[in-house]
Amino acid sequence: MLRVGILGCGTIAAKVCDSLKGNKKVVVEGVASRERAKAKKFAAAHCPDAKVFSGYEKLAASDDIDLIYIATPNTYHYEHTIMCIKEYKNVLIEKPFAMSKAEVDSIFFEAKNRGVFVAEAMWTSYLPLHLKALEWINKGRIGAVKYVSANLGYDIANVPRLNSPVLGGGSYLDLGVYTTNFALSFMGNDIKVARVFARRLSSGIDRDTTYSMESEDGSILGNFYVTMCADTDKDGVIVGERGKIKLTNINNYRKIAVYSPDDTLLEEIDAEKDYNHGYVYEFESCADAISKGLIQAPEMPWARTIRIAQINDTIRSMM
Ligand SMILES: NC(=O)c1ccc[n+]([C@@H]2O[C@H](COP(=O)([O-])OP(=O)(O)OC[C@H]3O[C@@H](n4cnc5c(N)ncnc54)[C@H](OP(=O)(O)O)[C@@H]3O)[C@@H](O)[C@H]2O)c1
Repeated sequence: MLRVGILGCGTIAAKVCDSLKGNKKVVVEGVASRERAKAKKFAAAHCPDAKVFSGYEKLAASDDIDLIYIATPNTYHYEHTIMCIKEYKNVLIEKPFAMSKAEVDSIFFEAKNRGVFVAEAMWTSYLPLHLKALEWINKGRIGAVKYVSANLGYDIANVPRLNSPVLGGGSYLDLGVYTTNFALSFMGNDIKVARVFARRLSSGIDRDTTYSMESEDGSILGNFYVTMCADTDKDGVIVGERGKIKLTNINNYRKIAVYSPDDTLLEEIDAEKDYNHGYVYEFESCADAISKGLIQAPEMPWARTIRIAQINDTIRSMM
C-alpha cells in the first residue's frame, strides 16, 4: 500500500482524497496544512483515518509517508517539492509542474541525485481513454497525423488563485498546460510554437489564450485555445490522412471515437461510469512505479514534463 501525504488542503486535494477512498493500492495517510485547524477539518471531511500535520515541513519529515502530493498554488510547487525531495520523499506534483524550465531542471537534478521518484500530476495522461487514443494512432487507425485541435474553457474567472500573478494565475498556466500536453501526445515531441494571441488583464493575467503549433518538418498543424471566462465544449480532434479521432472533453475524456475520412463512425469507447474518479489513475501509476523501483512514471516521463515547461516558457514570452 502506497502511503500518501497531502501537502495543502485546498480544492483539488479534497477531490483527490474523495477519489482515493477505498483504493486498494493507495491510502491517504497524512494531510498537512499551514493551519492545524484547517488540516483537522479537511481530514474529518475527506480522509478521517489520516494523520494531521501542522505545517508542511512535518509532513515532509514524517517516516509514515511514501509519497507527497503537492497541491499548493503554482508558484509554490518548486519550493515545496525541493523541501520534500531533500527529505528523500517521492513526490507527485500538480500541474503546472513548476513556473519555468529552469525550476523543472533543478527539481529533476535534485531527485536524480537522491534516487527519488517524481511525477507531474497531469492526470489526463494517465486516463485509459488517453492511452487508448494513443494506441489507435500508433496502430495507424487514421494514418499519419495531419491536424490536431483542442479547446479547454471554464467559467472560473472569479477564482482568486487564477487572478493572482503572485500565485501563477491565468488561463494558460491553468488550462493551456493540458492542451500543450495534448499537442505533444498527438503531434509528437518535435513541435514548435508558431503563433500566440493572448488577451491579458492589466495585472498581466491572460484570461484567454489562442495558439498554433507546427511540427518541425511542417507536416502537422495544431490549433488550441483556452479560457477562464467561458465553458467551452472542451473537445479535441486528431485528423489523419485516413480518418479522424474525436475526443469528448480533453480534460476528462468522456468518449473517444474513430471515423473514416467520410465521417462514418468506425468505433467509439465511453469512459467508465465513474469518470469523475479519474484522479486514481495517476496515484496508482505512482504506486506501481515506486514498487518497481522506478523514479519516473511511464505515462508522464520527465522528458514530457521538460518539453511542456519549454513550451510554457515560449508561449508566455510570446503573449
Ligand atoms: N488536476 C486537476 O484537475 C487540478 C484542478 C484544480 C487545480 N489543480 C492544480 O492544483 C493546485 C492547487 O489548486 P487548487 O484549485 O486546489 O487551489 P486552492 O483551492 O487555492 O488550494 C491551494 C492550497 O495551497 C495551500 N497554500 C499554500 N500557500 C498558499 C498561498 N500563499 N495562498 C493560497 N494557498 C496556499 C493552501 O493549503 P493550506 O491552507 O492547507 O496550507 C491552499 O488550500 C494548482 O497548481 C492547480 O493548477 C489541478
